[in-house]
Amino acid sequence: MKTVFITGISRGLGLKLAGHYLQKGCRVIGLSRTMSDELEMLMNEFGSALKWCPFDLGNLSGMESRLEAALHLSEEKIDVFINNAAILYKELVHRIQAEEMAKMVMINTVAPIVVTKMVINNFLRHKTRGIIVHVSSICAHRSFYGLSMIGATKAAIETFSQDTAYEYGRFGIRSNTVVLGLMNIGMRSTVNDRLTKGLKSISALGQLIDTDSVVNTIDYLTSEKSYCITGEKIHINAGIL
Ligand SMILES: NC(=O)c1ccc[n+]([C@@H]2O[C@H](COP(=O)([O-])OP(=O)(O)OC[C@H]3O[C@@H](n4cnc5c(N)ncnc54)[C@H](OP(=O)(O)O)[C@@H]3O)[C@@H](O)[C@H]2O)c1
Repeated sequence: MKTVFITGISRGLGLKLAGHYLQKGCRVIGLSRTMSDELEMLMNEFGSALKWCPFDLGNLSGMESRLEAALHLSEEKIDVFINNAAILYKELVHRIQAEEMAKMVMINTVAPIVVTKMVINNFLRHKTRGIIVHVSSICAHRSFYGLSMIGATKAAIETFSQDTAYEYGRFGIRSNTVVLGLMNIGMRSTVNDRLTKGLKSISALGQLIDTDSVVNTIDYLTSEKSYCITGEKIHINAGIL
């Protein structure tokens, strides 16, 4: 039974991914700051196959030891890691609040790098040909008002993923990024109607991204079917070309 470690499983894409891998018969380890009704339902349905802990990726102090104490990662044999948790702080550059910006950099960039370090050590300890998928955003590739900072946090993760693939490919470890346009769930609700309409109108398919398409792509990247794909950025945006 494969063990899939996912950050940010209380709602949105992370919750969908947790449900997907549990349905497939995987064990899921997940974290988020809060519990949701939907996550509680998954825990009731799948019992010990789902291990969740409350954890704040915004607090760097003692992060590695706190995560170890919460999830016992060194005892687990992780097969797949999905870096999904993130926050969105929107602001025009001349109005940036440094503390809000630093919080987003911490959650979207610094914490995922620290967690990836722990996961890579887990892969190496267990000699696992482990698979990592980072969730990025179209904001790292195109310009939108107020989204420069999230774009920067995700661009950093994309480069980190590529270099992780380079450093650990010799151990059979793979790392890829999915680069998402606007989904029909999750933090999309914080995006205004004008941007939503704008993104729909410039996409070849004329629509937002269906979350199932994202889940299926991540499923492919975390399967043996994609065994020669690593260091890549797969764009899922209904054809923003
Ligand atoms: N939705 C979109 O249209 C869209 C577009 C492009 C890219 N993306 C990317 O897709 C991924 C998922 O987005 P989403 O829309 O599903 O987001 P979401 O609905 O806002 O969910 C974010 C998840 O991350 C967790 N999280 C946030 N801050 C955390 C912290 N400090 N510590 C631990 N967990 C934390 C949240 O749980 P708690 O609040 O309980 O901690 C939640 O489970 C993100 O990486 C996002 O950047 C989304």
